[in-house]
Amino acid sequence: MKRILSGIQPTGSLNIGTYLGSVKNFVKLQDEMPDYEFFIFIADLHAITVPKDKQKLRKLIKELAALYIACGLDPERVNLFIQSEVPAHAQMSYLLQCNSYIGELERMTQYKDKSRKQETGVTVGLFTYPTLMAADILLYDAEYVPVGQDQKQHLELTRDIAQRVNNKYNDIFTVPKPLIAEVGAKIQSLKDPTKKMSKSDDNVKSRINLLDPENIIKKRIRSAVTDSLGTIKYDPEKREGISNLMTIYSIIAGVSFDEIEEKYEGKGYKEFKDDLGEIVYQELKPIQERYNELINSKELDEILDKGQERAFKVSQKKLYKFMHRIGLGRKR
Ligand code: TYM
Repeated sequence: MKRILSGIQPTGSLNIGTYLGSVKNFVKLQDEMPDYEFFIFIADLHAITVPKDKQKLRKLIKELAALYIACGLDPERVNLFIQSEVPAHAQMSYLLQCNSYIGELERMTQYKDKSRKQETGVTVGLFTYPTLMAADILLYDAEYVPVGQDQKQHLELTRDIAQRVNNKYNDIFTVPKPLIAEVGAKIQSLKDPTKKMSKSDDNVKSRINLLDPENIIKKRIRSAVTDSLGTIKYDPEKREGISNLMTIYSIIAGVSFDEIEEKYEGKGYKEFKDDLGEIVYQELKPIQERYNELINSKELDEILDKGQERAFKVSQKKLYKFMHRIGLGRKR
């Protein structure tokens, strides 16, 4: 069966960047690609590559699980699971490390950025992170991996590793292709529109989290950085701030940039931002309502149990197949 897989790290509350760049796409794809089996997971092993508080991590894992469903993932269509509950991921990561080179991991820009920012010791886990991500994908023979722009390099590395292993061990993995949305693959920070909106940005005003209350959502939009031109025109090269807000508007309201420009012709930022605040709030309100129903429900645990069972079965089979090809263990 053809498969689609993706994941999100529970490193902070989910924000509209991750939502528009990934979750909203998963929801769309689950309906548009009925021939594919979906695996969507909570990448908690990835989250511990930098130090994490235990209570906070637990809370964020559960929160992300509930938000996936609240955003519209259909548990009948999607196998939703927690990465650390499926042991083949860590095992496969090790096997792939033995087929990866230090030089290629050193070139990963996310590793370079994160290790530069790190004040205390940089862990080996942060360095080998892309091999864990490759394991996540290759274990399930995922044909497509929907991600935002910032994961493109990791996907390219995954493809290189898969091709290398295929040449060495006789075609064992499906070589995955990234699925990157044309609009929304990189939602920028509301405070510095030259940077991406990020869960780990110290400035909380740089993002809107999916669980933020109405007044915060609207305040964040009102105080989003734009420029002094005051016109609603899409120009991502020269006018990152307003173009970023127009991107958010366009995806949520389902209208083109031309339509937005036309609608706000002769109007200023205030009117545009007031409308956008309302649009974002109306998008998030039903998600928050569903989230509140789910967060302490048995239903959520049942969904995760079912997802884990299926993920375990598929991944274990692939892991053993690869181990066998390498010559590990006993011949069976
Ligand atoms: P993470 O948790 O940083 O982000 C999750 C997904 O959201 C996308 N994204 C964005 N898209 C648009 N604008 C933004 N501002 C924005 N911020 C985040 C990311 O591109 C990503 O698709 N390593 C991954 C998680 C992962 C994974 C995997 C993904 C682990 N294993 C296997 C796919 C397949 C990560 O850290 O994403």
